[in-house]
Amino acid sequence: MNKISKKYKTIDLSNSSSTKNGYEDFMLKEIFEQPKAITNTVNKYILLNEKCNFPDFNLPKDILLNVKEIYIVACGTAMHAGLASKNTIEKLCKIPTYIEIASEFRYSDPIINNNTLCIFISQSGETADTISALKLAKEKGCTTIAITNVIGSSITREADFSFYTYAGPEIAVASTKAYICQIALICSFAIYLAQVLESTDFSILEDLNKELLDLPKKIEMVLEKKERIRDITKQCYLEKNLFFLGRGIDYATCLEGSLKLKEISYIHSEAYAGGELKHGPIALIEDGIYVVGILTDCKLASKTISNLQEVITRGAKTFVISNQKLPNNTFDFVFYIPNSSTFLSPILSVIPLQLFAYYISKQKGLDVDKPRNLAKSVTVE
Ligand code: G6P
Repeated sequence: MNKISKKYKTIDLSNSSSTKNGYEDFMLKEIFEQPKAITNTVNKYILLNEKCNFPDFNLPKDILLNVKEIYIVACGTAMHAGLASKNTIEKLCKIPTYIEIASEFRYSDPIINNNTLCIFISQSGETADTISALKLAKEKGCTTIAITNVIGSSITREADFSFYTYAGPEIAVASTKAYICQIALICSFAIYLAQVLESTDFSILEDLNKELLDLPKKIEMVLEKKERIRDITKQCYLEKNLFFLGRGIDYATCLEGSLKLKEISYIHSEAYAGGELKHGPIALIEDGIYVVGILTDCKLASKTISNLQEVITRGAKTFVISNQKLPNNTFDFVFYIPNSSTFLSPILSVIPLQLFAYYISKQKGLDVDKPRNLAKSVTVE
């Protein structure tokens, strides 16, 4: 019999991370842990840089200088974190970035090679489709990076390089704090990569880095207004259908808000890029239907406002989340979030949507933490 010697790894977990700690549900607790989760994640990569207050991921420069394209591959909420980050990587690093659903990517015979950087995002690090997609990328010679919240998870053992989000254990099935940490981590990574590639002015990277460090305060400001979201949900928790509308980076937030709502409230909802409204979904807009609009990108805000006006004309009720000055008396409910760089606005705009799904689920008397038919990690195909 062969004796195998295994290394022990000690994981630092406080007792409060596995208890509700006074909160009614794990999901609510995890939503409120978000400022701390962001601080822990962002600071970790800054501390790696001994020279200055700037993120460092310590990757070999020769690999980074040869990257011609980036693929982000993931499932569910983790895939939405990729969508919310595409713009950041492309604008800062000037590298085309594609977001793929892992279960599609693995069977698509993708055209990727040793100039492709493949980033796999998975909160659990155990999602079967994401792991298979990673193995495929390795076979094709790509450089692979895993982003996960679980130290020592399967995905980290397969990838060439692994970076952790330091969100702390996420117990509720619906992902909240891990999601925003994934976006913050990719933003830090894009700042680092842009510096290595010299693809963006250092002063711009410096400002964005400062904004990342300021995020926890802004998240607190959103969380302080949780009662307002609860009040809004009192009026719509019995709805059967709901729409989310947004453009650009706000479209990714719409997809995530719609997924959260489906997962824990069982309300059917659809997320659309504003411009697609006229290509079909507008046929479903009828008197009294609720439409949630996200408006954080000043370049696209007026376009989304026009889309919202089209649904208002057809009798829809509107709930808008924005950091822009909006026309008076146009929408039924407006929830303002603090201003930020467009790259970071998905982190702030998703929080009201997490609370929206949470309070709707509570008012329907559902089990928020363990929704029907869902598992926290899907380890089979
Ligand atoms: C399951 C969960 C989702 C999650 C997805 C990906 O479907 O219910 O909430 O987004 O898996 O999980 P991962 O652990 O790979 O991020």
